[in-house]
Amino acid sequence: MRPTERLSADHRLIEQVLDCLDKLTHLSATSGALDLERAHRALRFLAEFADRLHHGKEEKLLFPAMHRCGIPDNVGPIAVMLNEHDLGRAEMARMRTALLKQDAPGFAAAAGSYVEILRDHIGKEDGVLFPMGEERFGDDDRRALEEGFASADRELLGEGVRETLVDMADRLAADLGVPHGAARSQAPRSHSCGLWCP
Ligand SMILES: [Fe+2]
Repeated sequence: MRPTERLSADHRLIEQVLDCLDKLTHLSATSGALDLERAHRALRFLAEFADRLHHGKEEKLLFPAMHRCGIPDNVGPIAVMLNEHDLGRAEMARMRTALLKQDAPGFAAAAGSYVEILRDHIGKEDGVLFPMGEERFGDDDRRALEEGFASADRELLGEGVRETLVDMADRLAADLGVPHGAARSQAPRSHSCGLWCP
């Protein structure tokens, strides 16, 4: 498996929880009540798996490896990705605040914005950024990334936490009737805006 295929596999699980977030806000709009317990679970998964672990692997391992291969990190695709990570974190903070206040419309607004940012972001990474990196990586780069990814679960989350989070995402999807992420196409989606679109 190529190093970025491991990150694309993470994307399928993250998309599963984005679908859960969509379902939660839809149910909240139709019933008038937000399912606080499931919203907390979705937010915990996104904060720990999508942000701390997955974005952590990109920021600490993938982007530096691409930078070493000659891709700038202060402009262009890597800079756009870093900015989108920050935009997602800001929306997560808004979701967290809305949950504390039990503010269902506020939660739905932040969640809708977060889902839109992350889906577009994932499409750019799978369709453009990851192939760009794979074209440039040599054997040493791939080996270093494999080693880094192999220890990232334990170093960024702690022993056994990834398994807990994956189980949480699967239970959330089962509760809400959302298809499992593994059922999605594993093929990277093409991104049709040319080389890059910030
Ligand atoms: Fe990603």
